Amino acid sequence: MSVIKFLDLGSQPIANGFLNKENFDKEFFFNLSVGLDDETGLVTQMEYVSPDIMFNDSYAYRGSLSKTMRDHFAEAKKRISAYLPENPKVLEIGSNDGVFVKNWNPATTFAVEPCENFAKETISLGYDTYSSFWSVELAENIKNTNGLMDLIFAANCMCHIPDLDGTFKAVESLLSDEGLFVFEDPSLIEMLSRNSYDQIYDEHAHIFSVTAVNKILNRNGLKVVNVEPISVHGGSNRIWAMKMSSQSKFLFDLEHFLTFESLVGVDDLNILSSFAERVEGSKIALINLLQKLQDDGNKVISYGATSKSTTIFNYCGIDSSLIEYITDTTPEKQGLYSPGTHIPILKAPSQIEQDVDVAFLGAWNFEKEIRNKENLFVERGGKFITHVPEVTLR
Ligand code: TMP
Repeated sequence: MSVIKFLDLGSQPIANGFLNKENFDKEFFFNLSVGLDDETGLVTQMEYVSPDIMFNDSYAYRGSLSKTMRDHFAEAKKRISAYLPENPKVLEIGSNDGVFVKNWNPATTFAVEPCENFAKETISLGYDTYSSFWSVELAENIKNTNGLMDLIFAANCMCHIPDLDGTFKAVESLLSDEGLFVFEDPSLIEMLSRNSYDQIYDEHAHIFSVTAVNKILNRNGLKVVNVEPISVHGGSNRIWAMKMSSQSKFLFDLEHFLTFESLVGVDDLNILSSFAERVEGSKIALINLLQKLQDDGNKVISYGATSKSTTIFNYCGIDSSLIEYITDTTPEKQGLYSPGTHIPILKAPSQIEQDVDVAFLGAWNFEKEIRNKENLFVERGGKFITHVPEVTLR
């Protein structure tokens, strides 16, 4: 197996590593490059950052702050429950602040979360929470204590784990015979079509195509039974898998889906290289636009201190000379500085401040929610910048 590099996003810090001034000179950087695994077709980073540098008790991303995500997981619960027995045993891998598990009965729901700050929160809500990284040993331990699971769920977590074989093996060992393994992660097709290269950052060890995931699941005793494209996180797939031996039938045509991905070219190095060229074009367009806005006397800020915007700001070299500050609703991020380019992060005011002319959408995946909330800004002629799928001021 070899991984062939097609994209280089340069030197990057920890995407969620919001920091204070005292730590500027101790910041960790790595080279963020992406390649294609010629055996499975997996799009994956050339050099993984060690998980404990990213996921620890100062992890700042909090899933339940956005109404979009709270609604999304309440809906996911309803949708998946229809395929489960009564009183199912449920386990979530990467439970964050409990935004998904909160929808389920604490007596039969278990959580795995390596970031202790968040594990404490689900424990206080009554959910048995294992504060460690997912592994074959942990799955064994959970099985011995609680038995097999009817549902193993993971949202924006599987793509974070470098060793997918070990991860899927552990899932297979803890799943009941007809149990469901449902996981959602950003979709490679969506990233290619939206030019959303900011999906790539330290935590996203891989960007999944169904083609690649299917191969890796298969060699670990699991099969894809359903795929649902979903809108969250800038376009994701919710992949449903079961044990190879499962008898359940789903009205889903996997071959058709795989043919579609093959036509798009998800594992075609030429297609991936032309994406890399579009990324370079996006960088030039964004810098030119920000420079012009500044020359014309506009005050530009950024909306949402996202991991995605860490990739953009560091790749494009955007610092506080072009974007004055970032606003964010997450208390853990406020008062700190953005990783790498050190733009100050302020508490999001109830409305964008009066003197702001333009806001870059760091959280472009919440554009609808943000436009609704910022109606006064929009009414007074304020504009947003998005780089998806092209750099645009609107
Ligand atoms: P995400 O794109 O990784 O989900 O992160 C979204 C970030 O944007 C998170 O830190 C919260 C922040 N945010 C705001 O500050 N205001 C908003 O209205 C929304 C929707 C998100």
